[in-house]
Amino acid sequence: MDDLKDKYLTQIAEAQDEDTLETLRISAVGKKGEVSLKMRELGKMTPEERQIAGPALNALKDEINSALSAKKAALADAALDERLRSEWLDVTLPSRPERRGTIHPISQVTEEVTAIFAEMGFSVAEGPRIDTDWYNFDALNIPGHHPARAEMDTFYMHRTEGDNRPPHVLRTHTSPVQIRSMEATGAPTRIICPGGVYRADYDQTHTPMFHQVEGLAIDRDISMANLKWVLEEFVKAYFEVEDVELRFRASHFPFTEPSAEVDIRCSWEGGQLKVGEGDDWLEILGSGMVHPKVLQAGGIDPAEWQGFAFGMGIDRIAMLKYGIPDLRAFFDSDLRWLRHYGFAALDMPTLHGGLSG
Ligand code: DAH
Repeated sequence: MDDLKDKYLTQIAEAQDEDTLETLRISAVGKKGEVSLKMRELGKMTPEERQIAGPALNALKDEINSALSAKKAALADAALDERLRSEWLDVTLPSRPERRGTIHPISQVTEEVTAIFAEMGFSVAEGPRIDTDWYNFDALNIPGHHPARAEMDTFYMHRTEGDNRPPHVLRTHTSPVQIRSMEATGAPTRIICPGGVYRADYDQTHTPMFHQVEGLAIDRDISMANLKWVLEEFVKAYFEVEDVELRFRASHFPFTEPSAEVDIRCSWEGGQLKVGEGDDWLEILGSGMVHPKVLQAGGIDPAEWQGFAFGMGIDRIAMLKYGIPDLRAFFDSDLRWLRHYGFAALDMPTLHGGLSG
């Protein structure tokens, strides 16, 4: 009995966790534990022997049980202490350093443009950046021999011998989305499509990838007057000015008839652009009434429906509004530039909450 007592009290004292304690409990005082087996032997003893061994065994059992529960409580205390040590929080520390990430001006301007047109009932449509030459050209009334194809500096996708899929291009403008959205929704429709476009060109105002926003409104009696109003509303909201004068200059695009390029009145005093005043004019977009052939290509009957369309450079209007001199910097991923021109991540542009914060 003394041996059993020594053995178990030592092992209980040394136990490091509850599982070990439980194993010890089972092998000492469990149903088939060593102490329990000894108790069963009492029956075989003489009454005299039993009178001594019985109380001694009971005392041993009690001693082991209370050692077990004392140790269990000690282990729980130690675990709590350890948790309190590791989970402390110093509320006197200063708050986290200022946010690092910013919203790129192109994302910001895309959100601003979307917010403005959404208010006028335009939804956002999307199309693929790699498109067939049919969507990018033919459907927009730019047939194979048309000079506009050569002027666009198109990137053609590589084709292997015997490939008889239609030729694919990196879209040179967002105008193919006009056709795709006419196909998808029919008339009437009112969409804008912001997105990346590609042309083989590179200097201070041209990069091989840039961004446009296309606009398209089709209904039964749409005219240039609607186009003019929508663009005026847009320019006032976007440049955040009360009044602005637009100049519609006759122009030519294969996909519109008539076509107009649109300039806004501005001044460049001290190199600082001011929109809405001054004697200068700044071209900001191309537009016109959708050509009947384009409506037809999109599956819409030009005898029943008319529409206006426009295409505007997002990077360009971002440069103008935020005074960014070099287009190429947009795509350099220079963190110093991004921190300077970037926008706070949580300031979503809205017409009521303010566009540019
Ligand atoms: N797609 C033309 C370009 O990239 C821009 C454009 C002009 C789009 C007139 C239009 C439009 O929808 O009506 O230069």
